Formats: sequence, structure tokens, C-alpha cells
Amino acid sequence: MRKKIVAGNWKMNNDLAETQELLSHLKMQLVKEPEAEVMVAPAFTNLYSAFQGLKDTPVQVVAQNMHQAENGAYTGEVSAKMLKSIGVDTVILGHSERRAIFGETNEILAEKVNSALKSEMRIIFCFGEELADRKSDNHFDLVAKQLEESLYQISDADWKNVVLAYEPVWAIGTGETASPEQAQEMHAFVRKNISEKFNDEIAQNVSILYGGSVKPANAKEIFAKEDVDGGLIGGASLKAVDFVEIINAF
Ligand code: G3H
Repeated sequence: MRKKIVAGNWKMNNDLAETQELLSHLKMQLVKEPEAEVMVAPAFTNLYSAFQGLKDTPVQVVAQNMHQAENGAYTGEVSAKMLKSIGVDTVILGHSERRAIFGETNEILAEKVNSALKSEMRIIFCFGEELADRKSDNHFDLVAKQLEESLYQISDADWKNVVLAYEPVWAIGTGETASPEQAQEMHAFVRKNISEKFNDEIAQNVSILYGGSVKPANAKEIFAKEDVDGGLIGGASLKAVDFVEIINAF
């Protein structure tokens, strides 16, 4: 059975006090044991506090990004070792905002993937097409290339530390969601692609999350699809009541 995961990506939102408030609401709302693994990704400045505050809960704290080098003259950056030293052992890599705004290429992402896995971190590797790619029917090729150039250099054994997140860029923060059928279609394509490049066992065991305007109103329908193993939630994860409703959609 693949792991079901619901992860909230808080992006560059919430200072320390706001993070603590959101976490206390989240803890209050999470009355029943979630069926899915639950994760939240606060900003770097709030990671330690969130990790401490969530210690006795099933909610895991993950980072939104990391640098590929172990250490050195990289002003403003944070390494895997630093994250691990405060208890954070999962990191989101390849989010479309990192690609589009901060120039993270497939090559840079391959380095980040290698560095994170070498440090025994779990990665949530994001990929997905822009609207123009979908309109020109290039979305499958584009996604295959993102995976090929950033992820497929890993070993079979590394896959146990990989979670995938399909995030069509046109559906992020836009209120426009991929239909459950579009999500299913891409997730099935990715699973088949992994099966061909690696093997079927790896393909069947890797969790593939969907991200892009998931809300309480559409989560159930999206999560019901065979190859959708959960969600990477942006905007709706900033409101505890909505996030918990999404978590409980399983
Ligand atoms: O990482 C999360 C995604 O970017 C989705 O964001 O739920 O606000 O569309 P969203």
C-alpha cells in the first residue's frame, strides 16, 4: 500500500507568532487520527519552533527548499545538515516557484536531489507543466524531461525516500484545478514512466501527490483517483479548518 500524504506548503507566509497560532489551531482541529501522513512546510525562520511545537503530534515539519552544497560561501542559503540538525528530514524540491522565480533548472535540481538523498533526507519532488505546454499538448514530454533530468539518476534504493508532487503551474494559486481526470491521467503516465525506467515495484510504491488549488470542496474527488496519493496544498493549508477538512478527505 502506498502512503497517503497531505502536505501544506505555507510558502513565504506567517511570521513566528502567526505560525504558532496556525499550529495551535491545527492541533485543535485535528481531533481524529489522520489516515494520511500530514506535513507542514513553514518558512525557514519558523521551522525549529514548528518542529518543537509538533513533537507530540502526527504532523511532520518539512522544509520548502535547501541548497545543494554541504556548506560554504553561499550567502542566504541553508543546507541539508542544518535542516537535519533541527529535526527536519524532509524537503520540498523543484517547486514551480523555485523554478520560475529563482531560476532552478533541471540540472540544479538534480544536484539538490542528489545532495538531499545523500544526506538521508526524504524529498518531495515537484514537477508540472505550464499552460502553454498543455495547450500545445507537450505536457507529458515536458514532465518526462523534468523527471529524467533531475530525478532518474537516483538508485533504486533511493526511491524509498522520494515522494512526487504533480503541480500543473496553471493550477497553482489560480483557483483553477486540474480535473480529477487530468490529475489521474498525469499520475498514471508518471507511474508508467517510472516503471519503464526503473521497475514496477518502485512505480507502484511511490506516492504521487497532486497540487494546484486543492480545496475542501474538491479534495475528496481528486484523492479518490487511483493514482493520486494525496495533495500538496498551498493557499488552503493556511487556514486550519480548511486544511483539516482536506486531510480528512481520505
Ligand atoms: O505547493 C503548493 C502548490 O503550489 C499549490 O498551491 O494550493 O495555493 O494552488 P495552491
